[in-house]
Amino acid sequence: MKVFVIGANGKVAHHFADFAKEDNSIEEIAMIRKAEQAGFFEERGIQTVLLDLVKNSIDELAEAMKDVDAVIFSAGAGGSGLDKTILIDLDGAVKAMTAAEQAGVKRFVMVSTFRTGREEMAKENDLQIYTIAKNYADEWLKNRTQLDWTIVHPGMLVDTAGTDQIKVGMGQDINEIPRQDVARTLISVLHNDNTINKEFEVLTGDTAVEEAVSKL
Ligand SMILES: NC(=O)c1ccc[n+]([C@@H]2O[C@H](COP(=O)([O-])OP(=O)(O)OC[C@H]3O[C@@H](n4cnc5c(N)ncnc54)[C@H](OP(=O)(O)O)[C@@H]3O)[C@@H](O)[C@H]2O)c1
Repeated sequence: MKVFVIGANGKVAHHFADFAKEDNSIEEIAMIRKAEQAGFFEERGIQTVLLDLVKNSIDELAEAMKDVDAVIFSAGAGGSGLDKTILIDLDGAVKAMTAAEQAGVKRFVMVSTFRTGREEMAKENDLQIYTIAKNYADEWLKNRTQLDWTIVHPGMLVDTAGTDQIKVGMGQDINEIPRQDVARTLISVLHNDNTINKEFEVLTGDTAVEEAVSKL
Protein backbone atom coordinates (compact mmCIF):
# COMPACT_ATOMS: atom_id res chain seq x y z
CA MET A 1 0.00 0.00 0.00
CA LYS A 2 1.22 3.49 -0.90
CA VAL A 3 1.21 5.72 2.18
CA PHE A 4 1.55 9.49 1.86
CA VAL A 5 2.96 10.94 5.08
CA ILE A 6 2.34 14.62 5.85
CA GLY A 7 4.78 15.95 8.43
CA ALA A 8 7.18 13.21 7.32
CA ASN A 9 10.23 15.02 8.67
CA GLY A 10 8.76 15.14 12.18
CA LYS A 11 9.99 13.01 15.06
CA VAL A 12 7.09 10.53 15.08
CA ALA A 13 7.20 10.26 11.30
CA HIS A 14 10.96 9.57 11.25
CA HIS A 15 10.25 6.49 13.38
CA PHE A 16 7.39 5.63 11.03
CA ALA A 17 9.82 5.76 8.08
CA ASP A 18 12.13 3.29 9.84
CA PHE A 19 9.25 0.85 10.35
CA ALA A 20 7.89 1.42 6.83
CA LYS A 21 11.30 0.60 5.36
CA GLU A 22 11.17 -2.82 7.06
CA ASP A 23 7.54 -3.47 6.08
CA ASN A 24 7.24 -4.92 2.59
CA SER A 25 3.55 -4.08 2.38
CA ILE A 26 4.08 -0.34 2.92
CA GLU A 27 5.58 2.02 0.35
CA GLU A 28 5.97 5.46 1.90
CA ILE A 29 5.87 8.77 0.06
CA ALA A 30 7.27 11.42 2.39
CA MET A 31 5.94 14.96 2.11
CA ILE A 32 8.71 17.29 3.25
CA ARG A 33 9.20 21.05 3.11
CA LYS A 34 12.91 21.42 2.37
CA ALA A 35 15.18 19.65 -0.13
CA GLU A 36 17.85 19.17 2.55
CA GLN A 37 15.42 16.93 4.49
CA ALA A 38 15.40 14.37 1.65
CA GLY A 39 18.66 12.58 2.56
CA PHE A 40 17.12 10.74 5.54
CA PHE A 41 14.47 9.27 3.24
CA GLU A 42 16.80 8.57 0.30
CA GLU A 43 18.95 6.46 2.65
CA ARG A 44 15.83 4.37 3.34
CA GLY A 45 14.73 4.13 -0.29
CA ILE A 46 11.70 6.35 0.38
CA GLN A 47 10.40 8.76 -2.26
CA THR A 48 9.96 12.40 -1.21
CA VAL A 49 7.76 15.24 -2.47
CA LEU A 50 8.41 18.88 -1.63
CA LEU A 51 5.17 20.52 -0.52
CA ASP A 52 3.95 22.85 2.20
CA LEU A 53 0.45 22.69 3.70
CA VAL A 54 0.24 26.48 3.88
CA LYS A 55 1.98 27.56 0.67
CA ASN A 56 0.65 24.88 -1.67
CA SER A 57 -2.91 24.58 -2.96
CA ILE A 58 -5.36 21.73 -2.49
CA ASP A 59 -4.92 20.91 -6.19
CA GLU A 60 -1.15 20.63 -5.75
CA LEU A 61 -1.55 18.41 -2.68
CA ALA A 62 -4.10 16.25 -4.54
CA GLU A 63 -1.78 15.86 -7.52
CA ALA A 64 0.90 14.42 -5.19
CA MET A 65 -1.64 12.00 -3.68
CA LYS A 66 -2.57 10.39 -7.01
CA ASP A 67 -2.44 6.57 -6.72
CA VAL A 68 -2.00 6.77 -2.95
CA ASP A 69 -3.87 4.29 -0.70
CA ALA A 70 -3.61 6.07 2.63
CA VAL A 71 -2.64 9.46 4.07
CA ILE A 72 -1.09 9.92 7.50
CA PHE A 73 -1.31 13.41 8.97
CA SER A 74 1.46 13.93 11.53
CA ALA A 75 2.23 17.58 10.78
CA GLY A 76 1.96 20.34 13.33
CA ALA A 77 3.04 23.89 14.00
CA GLY A 78 4.67 22.92 17.31
CA GLY A 79 5.49 26.09 19.21
CA SER A 80 5.90 28.29 16.12
CA GLY A 81 2.92 30.58 16.84
CA LEU A 82 -0.83 30.51 17.26
CA ASP A 83 -1.37 31.78 13.69
CA LYS A 84 0.66 28.81 12.47
CA THR A 85 -1.42 26.48 14.65
CA ILE A 86 -4.56 27.59 12.84
CA LEU A 87 -2.84 27.50 9.43
CA ILE A 88 -1.27 24.05 9.84
CA ASP A 89 -3.03 22.00 12.53
CA LEU A 90 -6.51 23.16 11.51
CA ASP A 91 -6.63 24.54 7.97
CA GLY A 92 -3.65 22.48 6.79
CA ALA A 93 -5.42 19.36 8.00
CA VAL A 94 -8.65 20.32 6.22
CA LYS A 95 -6.68 21.05 3.04
CA ALA A 96 -5.05 17.61 3.31
CA MET A 97 -8.42 15.89 3.78
CA THR A 98 -9.96 17.76 0.85
CA ALA A 99 -6.96 16.91 -1.32
CA ALA A 100 -7.19 13.25 -0.34
CA GLU A 101 -10.85 13.11 -1.35
CA GLN A 102 -10.09 14.96 -4.60
CA ALA A 103 -7.35 12.43 -5.38
CA GLY A 104 -9.65 9.48 -4.64
CA VAL A 105 -7.76 8.35 -1.52
CA LYS A 106 -10.08 6.66 0.96
CA ARG A 107 -7.93 6.04 4.04
CA PHE A 108 -6.89 8.94 6.29
CA VAL A 109 -5.11 8.53 9.62
CA MET A 110 -4.87 11.56 11.89
CA VAL A 111 -2.34 12.04 14.67
CA SER A 112 -4.40 14.14 17.03
CA THR A 113 -3.82 15.42 20.54
CA PHE A 114 -4.63 13.41 23.67
CA ARG A 115 -7.89 15.04 24.60
CA THR A 116 -10.28 17.26 22.66
CA GLY A 117 -13.91 18.21 23.34
CA ARG A 118 -15.68 21.20 24.85
CA GLU A 119 -14.34 20.79 28.40
CA GLU A 120 -10.75 20.55 27.23
CA MET A 121 -11.13 23.50 24.82
CA ALA A 122 -12.44 25.70 27.65
CA LYS A 123 -9.23 25.29 29.68
CA GLU A 124 -7.27 28.55 29.57
CA ASN A 125 -3.79 27.14 29.23
CA ASP A 126 -0.91 27.24 26.74
CA LEU A 127 -2.46 24.42 24.74
CA GLN A 128 -5.93 25.98 24.41
CA ILE A 129 -5.68 27.18 20.80
CA TYR A 130 -3.87 24.01 19.76
CA THR A 131 -6.57 21.90 21.40
CA ILE A 132 -9.28 23.88 19.60
CA ALA A 133 -7.48 23.53 16.25
CA LYS A 134 -7.06 19.77 16.69
CA ASN A 135 -10.64 19.36 17.90
CA TYR A 136 -12.12 20.95 14.80
CA ALA A 137 -9.72 19.18 12.44
CA ASP A 138 -10.89 15.89 13.96
CA GLU A 139 -14.53 16.97 13.72
CA TRP A 140 -14.05 17.85 10.05
CA LEU A 141 -12.55 14.44 9.38
CA LYS A 142 -15.40 12.61 11.10
CA ASN A 143 -18.33 14.71 9.92
CA ARG A 144 -17.40 16.58 6.76
CA THR A 145 -15.61 13.90 4.73
CA GLN A 146 -16.39 10.47 3.33
CA LEU A 147 -12.88 9.27 4.19
CA ASP A 148 -12.17 6.00 5.98
CA TRP A 149 -10.73 7.74 9.00
CA THR A 150 -8.86 6.75 12.13
CA ILE A 151 -7.95 9.29 14.80
CA VAL A 152 -5.05 8.41 17.10
CA HIS A 153 -4.87 10.42 20.34
CA PRO A 154 -1.38 9.94 21.82
CA GLY A 155 -0.46 10.96 25.34
CA MET A 156 2.59 13.13 26.09
CA LEU A 157 5.19 12.30 23.46
CA VAL A 158 8.64 11.38 24.75
CA ASP A 159 11.83 10.43 22.94
CA THR A 160 12.76 7.39 25.01
CA ALA A 161 12.97 4.12 23.09
CA GLY A 162 9.65 2.45 22.37
CA THR A 163 8.66 -0.65 24.32
CA ASP A 164 6.04 -2.04 21.90
CA GLN A 165 3.71 -2.08 24.93
CA ILE A 166 0.65 0.18 24.85
CA LYS A 167 -2.87 0.60 26.13
CA VAL A 168 -5.65 1.94 23.95
CA GLY A 169 -9.18 3.20 24.54
CA MET A 170 -10.94 6.44 25.46
CA GLY A 171 -11.24 8.26 28.77
CA GLN A 172 -7.82 7.28 30.14
CA ASP A 173 -5.74 9.46 32.49
CA ILE A 174 -2.99 11.24 30.57
CA ASN A 175 0.43 9.69 30.64
CA GLU A 176 3.42 9.36 28.36
CA ILE A 177 4.12 7.40 25.21
CA PRO A 178 7.38 7.18 23.26
CA ARG A 179 7.15 8.61 19.75
CA GLN A 180 8.50 5.29 18.47
CA ASP A 181 5.45 3.47 19.87
CA VAL A 182 3.13 6.03 18.26
CA ALA A 183 4.82 5.25 14.94
CA ARG A 184 4.37 1.51 15.58
CA THR A 185 0.72 2.20 16.32
CA LEU A 186 0.30 4.03 13.00
CA ILE A 187 1.76 1.04 11.14
CA SER A 188 -0.69 -1.28 12.91
CA VAL A 189 -3.61 1.03 12.15
CA LEU A 190 -2.78 0.76 8.44
CA HIS A 191 -2.79 -3.04 8.72
CA ASN A 192 -6.04 -3.29 10.65
CA ASP A 193 -9.23 -2.14 8.93
CA ASN A 194 -11.13 -2.65 12.20
CA THR A 195 -9.72 0.79 13.09
CA ILE A 196 -11.71 2.50 10.32
CA ASN A 197 -14.11 5.13 11.69
CA LYS A 198 -12.64 4.79 15.16
CA GLU A 199 -10.63 7.01 17.46
CA PHE A 200 -8.59 5.97 20.45
CA GLU A 201 -6.12 7.26 23.00
CA VAL A 202 -2.76 5.51 23.12
CA LEU A 203 -0.42 5.43 26.11
CA THR A 204 2.37 3.21 27.32
CA GLY A 205 0.79 0.02 28.64
CA ASP A 206 1.22 -3.72 28.77
CA THR A 207 -0.17 -5.02 25.49
CA ALA A 208 1.85 -5.44 22.30
CA VAL A 209 0.95 -2.74 19.75
CA GLU A 210 -0.33 -5.08 17.04
CA GLU A 211 -2.46 -7.03 19.53
CA ALA A 212 -3.94 -3.87 21.10
CA VAL A 213 -4.75 -2.27 17.75
CA SER A 214 -6.16 -5.42 16.14
CA LYS A 215 -8.66 -5.73 19.01
CA LEU A 216 -10.05 -2.20 18.77
N1 LIG B 1 4.04 16.95 21.79
C1 LIG B 1 3.13 16.13 22.28
O1 LIG B 1 3.23 15.70 23.44
C2 LIG B 1 1.98 15.69 21.43
C3 LIG B 1 1.00 14.96 22.03
C4 LIG B 1 -0.03 14.44 21.24
C5 LIG B 1 -0.03 14.72 19.87
N2 LIG B 1 0.93 15.47 19.29
C6 LIG B 1 0.86 15.64 17.83
O2 LIG B 1 1.75 14.73 17.25
C7 LIG B 1 2.25 15.27 16.03
C8 LIG B 1 3.58 14.63 15.70
O3 LIG B 1 4.51 14.93 16.73
P1 LIG B 1 6.07 15.12 16.41
O4 LIG B 1 6.77 15.18 17.71
O5 LIG B 1 6.48 14.15 15.35
O6 LIG B 1 6.04 16.58 15.78
P2 LIG B 1 7.21 17.37 15.03
O7 LIG B 1 8.51 16.68 15.19
O8 LIG B 1 7.11 18.81 15.48
O9 LIG B 1 6.78 17.26 13.50
C9 LIG B 1 5.85 18.09 12.91
C10 LIG B 1 6.12 18.12 11.43
O10 LIG B 1 5.17 19.00 10.81
C11 LIG B 1 5.82 19.61 9.73
N3 LIG B 1 5.18 20.84 9.31
C12 LIG B 1 5.13 22.02 9.98
N4 LIG B 1 4.54 22.95 9.23
C13 LIG B 1 4.22 22.36 8.05
C14 LIG B 1 3.62 22.82 6.85
N5 LIG B 1 3.24 24.09 6.71
N6 LIG B 1 3.46 21.94 5.83
C15 LIG B 1 3.86 20.65 5.97
N7 LIG B 1 4.45 20.16 7.06
C16 LIG B 1 4.62 21.01 8.10
C17 LIG B 1 7.23 19.91 10.25
O11 LIG B 1 8.08 20.12 9.14
P3 LIG B 1 9.61 20.60 9.29
O12 LIG B 1 10.36 19.39 9.75
O13 LIG B 1 9.96 21.05 7.93
O14 LIG B 1 9.62 21.72 10.30
C18 LIG B 1 7.52 18.65 11.05
O15 LIG B 1 8.19 17.71 10.27
C19 LIG B 1 2.35 16.76 16.32
O16 LIG B 1 2.20 17.50 15.14
C20 LIG B 1 1.24 17.02 17.32
O17 LIG B 1 0.12 17.59 16.69
C21 LIG B 1 1.92 15.95 20.06
